[in-house]
Amino acid sequence: MKLTLIGTGYVGLVTGACFAEVGHNVLCVDNNKDKVAQLKAGKIPIFEPGLEDLVKNNVAAGRLAFTDSTAEGVAHGEVIFIAVPTPPQPDGSVDLTYIEAVAREIAQQLQPGQYRVIVDKSTVPVKTGEKVTETINRYSAEGCIFDVVSNPEFLREGCAIADLMQPDRIVIGSRSQRATDLMKAIYEPFHAPTYITDINSAELIKHAANSFLALKISYINAVAAICEASGANVDEVADGMGADKRIGRAFLNAGLGYGGSCFPKDIKAFIHIADELGTPFHLLKEVEKINAGQLDRFLQKIKNKLWVLKNKTFGVLGLAFKGDTDDVRSSVAIELCRRLLAEGASLRVTDPQALEKAQTELGHDPRITYCANPEEVFDRVEAVILATEWKQFRNLPWKQLKDKMIAPLIFDGRNLLDHHSLREMGYDYTGIGRP
Ligand code: UDX
Ligand code: UDX
Repeated sequence: MKLTLIGTGYVGLVTGACFAEVGHNVLCVDNNKDKVAQLKAGKIPIFEPGLEDLVKNNVAAGRLAFTDSTAEGVAHGEVIFIAVPTPPQPDGSVDLTYIEAVAREIAQQLQPGQYRVIVDKSTVPVKTGEKVTETINRYSAEGCIFDVVSNPEFLREGCAIADLMQPDRIVIGSRSQRATDLMKAIYEPFHAPTYITDINSAELIKHAANSFLALKISYINAVAAICEASGANVDEVADGMGADKRIGRAFLNAGLGYGGSCFPKDIKAFIHIADELGTPFHLLKEVEKINAGQLDRFLQKIKNKLWVLKNKTFGVLGLAFKGDTDDVRSSVAIELCRRLLAEGASLRVTDPQALEKAQTELGHDPRITYCANPEEVFDRVEAVILATEWKQFRNLPWKQLKDKMIAPLIFDGRNLLDHHSLREMGYDYTGIGRP
């Protein structure tokens, strides 16, 4: 089928490439002309494992193309997916400026008699589908026939292609059989369980799912604090809990807490939506509070060991919001760096993919040394902090690196490292919820 994706970022580009991979003919639209030019030149502006080859192969096969023209996009795809940002406002509500603008642009390009399905893939508050429908009705010419559908995405950065090619489920919010049939045809090649529901329920599924995942993370972080106070081991508690199929082990990794372009904004949005609807979601407010406290607790651990941080140099392993991505949006690692700098410390930082984006975020502060590889981070530092769960940090030559440090202090913000062997090597190791 001929499909159009509007918004060619972490979600839109991966989704478009996967649709092309299963045989659809995809046109990706973006209003950032530089980004479109990069993509046309075969350059991928984001890091996502496997994405470069996926895009290249499908462009070469003639199933994937790029444009900055919405008109071209509306003319191309009978089904048009919207995957533009829905950033948080200061009060926690969702900024729907881009969604409304794109809905308006699509409306102005609709041709009378030419049926189109407009699909909202961006994460939006419940009842946004109704607003998109009203907007398209208001700005389209007489005689335009269209349906609006909600089709939330559940991809995780760092494993987005796998999440899309083998989805746990497809969620479709639609009240038109014609639109539903087209959506089923689009997703048929993925052979995944498909849940057809109304638009409001589909929109809520996304916020409710993300909030529950964040709740699991804050739950295990709260349990980690109890483990620390009682000499228990949070890894083993999580294993014992997670063995219960009703609970599941995933998303029970204690650490610095969740960041990224989704959880923080989606939790804020859901809290705001619930307040607006007169059904306050107190539990989620506690989830947020626990998460916000993780960094404070971790910094206190560092202060307990080192007393004064001012004029000390720290090594920081990882700057992206999680492993296997270059995305630094709402990264706790970046916030950790800011807090250490505010204490008057200097930093030697590294990240396998996010160094460039981190430099943009942190700026060119003379107290920050950006290291091309992890080994350089250890040079004459008072302590090394692991802030992002990049698996390769586990396999560093820890024995040799110890002697480069002023003192062999390790603070493991993601409980990623093998603390037993590090202690045997002579490191003073501190994790989260680990004795
Ligand atoms: C975004 C939202 O942040 C997320 O909530 C939603 O679920 C999917 O879309 P992401 O892909 O990570 O996620 O955003 P980003 O990487 O910023 O990409 C958005 C793209 O849309 C950018 O390339 C931007 O140039 C483009 N865009 C933005 C448009 O094409 N038109 C617009 O009006 C606004
Ligand atoms: C999340 C959801 O998982 C995905 O379904 C949705 O579509 C978008 O938001 P993402 O934000 O890309 O995906 O990454 P995820 O793997 O969920 O991690 C989110 C944050 O939680 C990261 O900062 C990660 O470090 C943290 N995390 C994750 C934990 O602290 N503990 C865990 O056990 C898992």
